[in-house]
Amino acid sequence: MKKLKLVSTVFMVAFLLILSACGTSKTGGDGGKTLRVVTDAAYAPFEYQDKGEVVGFDIDFINAVAKEAGVKVKVEHVGWDPLFVELDKKTADLGISAITINDERKQSYDFTVPYFLSTNKILVPEGSDIKSAADLKNGKTVAVQNATTGQEAVEGLLGKNNEKIKKFENNNLAILELKSGGADAVVADNTVVEEYVKNNPKDKFVVIEDSGAFAKEFYGLMMPKGSKLKADLDKAIKEVIDNGTYAKIYKKWFKVEPDTQILKDQQ
Ligand code: ARG
Repeated sequence: MKKLKLVSTVFMVAFLLILSACGTSKTGGDGGKTLRVVTDAAYAPFEYQDKGEVVGFDIDFINAVAKEAGVKVKVEHVGWDPLFVELDKKTADLGISAITINDERKQSYDFTVPYFLSTNKILVPEGSDIKSAADLKNGKTVAVQNATTGQEAVEGLLGKNNEKIKKFENNNLAILELKSGGADAVVADNTVVEEYVKNNPKDKFVVIEDSGAFAKEFYGLMMPKGSKLKADLDKAIKEVIDNGTYAKIYKKWFKVEPDTQILKDQQ
């Protein structure tokens, strides 16, 4: 009898130990689950690979937001199309990749509040006769990254199945096509093409702006539909914008002060 009691006490203690261990891993900061964040790291300065590491404005931003929200994140480069597939299958918790919030995507995914203002612009060689979006309609070949708002914008100008639109898996390949003469222009997010021109003066490219043809866009973090993360992430994004962390990261990458009011007006 005594032995039985001892055995059951041992079991009881072990059971309680296991329970308390479970408890800490759920509530304790560093025991929490790490969120899988997917990206297409071929879109400098937002996300790109540097010595095998994924870096960029978006990476600093998501790390700041995660810290504020008290969650752990691990950012992984998977590519643009796979990013959407992973969120469809819920094998990832979050996508960050200079992703424009739009109605079409909102049908399949949830977005946080906006964190960045963007618009499409046109990258062309110096001396090109392309001076506006309308000029692309004069038989020009335009390279874009597949399934981006850049592709959509060009389709709006040239027609959906126009074979003058060359689609690439990532934006670097679209720019390479321009470099090699296989395209007359690239249409992509302003910051990306402007940064490219700045960093590659030897290519002799220029950026054409056409705010009449290309809409204002806002980036958001993208989640599977119904994700429970949205409320916490929205709160954390607002906080890093309000407490100056956002401005710090913005200045690190763009050397100028951000217009945070334009983001707050969207919240
Ligand atoms: N903002 C554009 C869009 O959402 C382009 C984003 C491309 N991002 C990338 N990491 N390649 O369609």
